[in-house]
Amino acid sequence: MRRFFLSFLLLTMAATLFAENIHLTTPSTSLVLKADEGGSLQYVYFGARIQDTDVDGLEASGWKPQDAYPAYGQGNITLDALAVTHPGGDMTLDLAVESWTVRDIHEAADGIHAACDATLATIILKDKVYPFTVKVFYKAFQDVDMIETWTEITNGEKKKSVLLRRFDSACLPVRRGHVWASHLTGTWANEGQLVQEELQPGILKIENKDGVRNSHTSHAEMMFSLDGRPSETEGAVLGAALCYSGDYHLETVTNDTDYHRFFAGISPDHSAYELAGGETFRTPELAFTWSGEGLSGASRNFHRWARDHRIAHGDKERKILLNSWEGVYFNINEPTMDKMMADIAGMGGELFVMDDGWFGVKYPRNIDNSSLGDWQVDTRKLPHGIQWLVDAASGHKISFGIWIEPEMTNSKSELYEKHPEWVLNAPSRPLSQGRGGTQLVLDLGNPAVQDFVFGIVDDLLTDYPGIDYIKWDANMPLQSHGSTYLKDQGKLLIEYHRGFAAVCDRIRAKYPEVTIQACASGGGRANYGVLPWFDEFWVSDNTDALQRIYMQWGTSYFFPAIAMASHISAVPNHTNRRVTPLKFRIDVAMSGRLGMELQPKDMTEQEIAQCRKAIAEYKQIRPVVQLGDQYRLVSPYDRLGLASLMYVSEKKDEAVFFWWKTDHYYDQHLPRVKMAGLDPDRRYTVTELDRIGGPLSFEGKSFSGKYLMENGLDIPAYPSAYAEQVAMQGYSSRVLRLTAE
Ligand code: DGJ
Repeated sequence: MRRFFLSFLLLTMAATLFAENIHLTTPSTSLVLKADEGGSLQYVYFGARIQDTDVDGLEASGWKPQDAYPAYGQGNITLDALAVTHPGGDMTLDLAVESWTVRDIHEAADGIHAACDATLATIILKDKVYPFTVKVFYKAFQDVDMIETWTEITNGEKKKSVLLRRFDSACLPVRRGHVWASHLTGTWANEGQLVQEELQPGILKIENKDGVRNSHTSHAEMMFSLDGRPSETEGAVLGAALCYSGDYHLETVTNDTDYHRFFAGISPDHSAYELAGGETFRTPELAFTWSGEGLSGASRNFHRWARDHRIAHGDKERKILLNSWEGVYFNINEPTMDKMMADIAGMGGELFVMDDGWFGVKYPRNIDNSSLGDWQVDTRKLPHGIQWLVDAASGHKISFGIWIEPEMTNSKSELYEKHPEWVLNAPSRPLSQGRGGTQLVLDLGNPAVQDFVFGIVDDLLTDYPGIDYIKWDANMPLQSHGSTYLKDQGKLLIEYHRGFAAVCDRIRAKYPEVTIQACASGGGRANYGVLPWFDEFWVSDNTDALQRIYMQWGTSYFFPAIAMASHISAVPNHTNRRVTPLKFRIDVAMSGRLGMELQPKDMTEQEIAQCRKAIAEYKQIRPVVQLGDQYRLVSPYDRLGLASLMYVSEKKDEAVFFWWKTDHYYDQHLPRVKMAGLDPDRRYTVTELDRIGGPLSFEGKSFSGKYLMENGLDIPAYPSAYAEQVAMQGYSSRVLRLTAE
């Protein structure tokens, strides 16, 4: 969402002009840039906050200024952030600082994001020969430790275009030493897998070329542990997230110099962007942070920034929902929907979401091979239409939500019959069809298609203002490069995402309140380029609790629990067929935005009662899980037999501790987990949630925060009656609520 700077105050106290340096600060960090007029823009320092009086000594203490936005042609022999071809074929740039400003800015609250105060540095670089300008921006938040940087690249030629060959958002130098990278990899149903590796000479390249979604197989975020092997709790960490919904690359170059250099930007690989005379190209933001408290500390910085400034409604607790997909798949009908609504309401849930299968008149959506684009209700399944469902939900005292996949169509659809020219496909080639053998991607670069896509949401929310939640899905990549609308095919990938942004802007301008989930065949849209308009994302189509521990752990490196939809589902799990106890499934789902993904009518009375109790308990801890600080304690990736994390409220008066056993062997000796983030001087009373079986020895007892952080509590893997029920299945978990006295 584009926001407006409402006030431009005078030079800021938080950014100090020290000699020729620009010193930008956030509460705990400093960024120092050197911007000598006529010289190149240099990045001197980013790390723990320093005094103005220390700035002068930075270089003397050994920090070596590095090009902050290297462009090809300036003598750099590895990668560059920017590379162009001028009219006539010259491929060089030589960018020099022309001028710069630093000012305080205030962005007003807009019903989706809170107000924001920041310091904005703008450095204007000009080529020494050509009319070619780059503005580099650094926006330092005043209430959270995050800086966003981006550029505006302008071709000042009167008529002739310049070809952009590479157009990164930023380049961050990272002092060499013993630096480790943490990043996420995976695939559909196994998203957010953590990879940690020591940086070695060469290029560590992470990229995504799906075209539509961008976080199944890789993530556009990275962390660098600067003090050796990654630790969750100790050492300096630099984290960065590219905020872009489309194809990207992150490249960390290590050569023969003292610095690794991290580049991040839109992938130029399948674009040939001709920047017309007078045109300006804006790169997406790269958000970066630093923490001295290890990986968890850097994550907390991302989480706070996300909740306070980046995701939609990040300060608002999310409703507990039942989604219909795994419960009934395409078998939507009125009595079933009504019963599911009654069931989730009876368990204390607050929202029911009707997933795929509700639409299509000429072509009913009974399986995944038709009807996308035909967003009229199928009255054979729902004779009384959507309003009846909204009213039914309201009768059950819950809210109603609905699934759509607005960027897509099928070759078997009325939309495609009417507008075959609206789909993306290479000219003169047979249609390249995706899901169901018929799915196609709409050409979002085309304003008529943008109107249509906006209209889908607009019609639903205008006709049925009671709709409270939209699940926005996207189930195929861009498979065939070609637009009948665009004159310049080299811009297709970028125009698609500009179109996506334009539609989302329009939706949010008119409907700031509605909750929107970014789903994309599971976790294909876990990215900060999407989240300004979306409240949350579906972490994965895989709801198996054990596999979710790994996926949610990795995803939490960059994204807060409030954005991570985490649902209790049936067993055997629909993706990997694993059977886990209901308690284990609940205890994992409770660590994110809790929901359900099953058919309640297939549950036993005992299971329903257990879920009802868990939902009531989740409501007690919801503010801490969704709005508190996360401390990751024992990583499942360390293969110690367990995983554990906790959330602590800002005032440190409430905390929730999660403990999940990840494997099961006879004679296992699990480590005792030390807690974190508590107030050492306060005493906390321990209560077990989702408890089955007898009380733990510390139930109802209180301990000082200091004791819990130095010693933790010994969690018995399989005590008493609990063992009977679940131990044989090899799973054990505990959720402890800690309340300060
Ligand atoms: C993929 C999503 O990830 C699922 O949750 C579900 O909504 C299906 N699409 C529906 O087709």
